[in-house]
Amino acid sequence: MAALTTFLWGALPYLAVALLISGTVWRYRYDRFGWTTRSSELYESRLLRIGSPLFHVGLLFVIAGHVVGLFVPQSWTDAVGLHESAYHALALALGVVAGVLTFGGLALLIWRRRTTGPVFLGTTRNDKVMYVFLVAALGTGLATTLINAFGATYNYRDTVSPWLRGLFRLVPDTGLMARVPTEYHVHVTVALLLFALLPFTRLVHAFTAPVAYLFRPYVVYRSRDDARRPGTARPRRGWEGTGP
Ligand code: HEM
Repeated sequence: MAALTTFLWGALPYLAVALLISGTVWRYRYDRFGWTTRSSELYESRLLRIGSPLFHVGLLFVIAGHVVGLFVPQSWTDAVGLHESAYHALALALGVVAGVLTFGGLALLIWRRRTTGPVFLGTTRNDKVMYVFLVAALGTGLATTLINAFGATYNYRDTVSPWLRGLFRLVPDTGLMARVPTEYHVHVTVALLLFALLPFTRLVHAFTAPVAYLFRPYVVYRSRDDARRPGTARPRRGWEGTGP
């Protein structure tokens, strides 16, 4: 049991992050043209237009909730007068809304993927495995929150949060995780496995948000004019050549 505790909470997080980083570098080097969401908007857009924003907006709130709950020490929220009971009520309300939005959006996206022929055909084996882990991560997270809401209240900011912060300081206190309820064990393990899987799936698109879209011209025209050839004049922003 002690060996399993050490492995799960002292080694698995580092193994998952090592795979996440090395897998992402590998994918970028060897499959740069496959670095895409594998968009299926061309085949079906009605359900996509509802499911995708639901999922992505919900996920942004889920991520924000994790950052506050896991990385902001309880002593800080206490210091600004937000005591545990108020914090808990707030986190619960926002967490459930965020979790339900994300889960609902994902359910719609998966249903669409399964029932729209060409969309299903464009789904790789790795992506199918990824969907199982994504649903499991969201489902177990939401379940953990609901168990915490309706069952015996548990303050994960005493255990899970300091354990996670310890990982970044390279001194994980595995004993903290050994005593948290099982639903947290399941949720965190599934989440770590999802991180390890991420580079090999369409989720890599999350690392390359098309930020340049905000600054480039809407339509890119290229001039044939000699004066605009590389080397003769500095091209205006958005007019840079594409070739060597
Ligand atoms: C190592 C990484 C992670 C840790 C340590 C972690 C930990 C937690 C904790 C402590 C809670 C609160 C449970 C409660 O209210 O008692 C939670 C909730 C939740 N987690 Fe995670 N989690 C991780 C990754 C993920 C990932 C990757 C996903 C989904 C993609 C996810 C989805 C959720 C959801 C949907 C909830 C419900 C509350 C909300 O909507 O924020 N978690 N998680």
